[in-house]
Amino acid sequence: MIYKYPYSLPKLPYGFDAFEPITSEWTFKTHYRKNQGAYVKALNKICRDQPQLQELTLGEIVRSSVGHIFDMSAQHWNHCFLWDNLNPPKENNYPHPSVLKRIRSSFGSFANFRTSLIEIGTKEFGSGWVWLIADSNHNLGVVATPNAYNPMVGGFIPLLTLDLWEHAYHCDYQNRRKEYLENSFSLLNWEKIEDRFTHGDPLFL
Ligand code: FE2
Repeated sequence: MIYKYPYSLPKLPYGFDAFEPITSEWTFKTHYRKNQGAYVKALNKICRDQPQLQELTLGEIVRSSVGHIFDMSAQHWNHCFLWDNLNPPKENNYPHPSVLKRIRSSFGSFANFRTSLIEIGTKEFGSGWVWLIADSNHNLGVVATPNAYNPMVGGFIPLLTLDLWEHAYHCDYQNRRKEYLENSFSLLNWEKIEDRFTHGDPLFL
């Protein structure tokens, strides 16, 4: 599927209660409908006002824009990417072989990677995102980015993300972002992340 104007909220393969008890149904529904819904609405208005943008894919707009256009397009991109790398909570949720091998070579162990992502995501000041990224040699790293920023802009390949904006967790966890990130590990869809690592993702286009 190519992400292009006119934009809409992505189809979800699960219900709003799918992430209970890690993320409440109310938080997920509000996050998807109200927060991402507002980005979609704003992005469609931008594309109506600037028809040349209708010819570009979402990824092309993200990589080539600044200011309000970047913020709205990247926030839509980031949320589509987020929902796609989540699934209902699983016990013993673990990466698939290719990504696991790279995680071990880049971080030493899965436990080190997990600690790194939780620490970097917890320490990021203000709103933003925490990511597992790959460089062009498939070396992996963890970064946190402020606001709407997307590591694709810097030439990296995003493999997974978690949302650090308060709208993602504040009603369920108040100020306990670290606990939200720890719990969110059981929601990661490692099959999808493996697929992104080996085959890419339509959002990269
Ligand atoms: Fe969000």
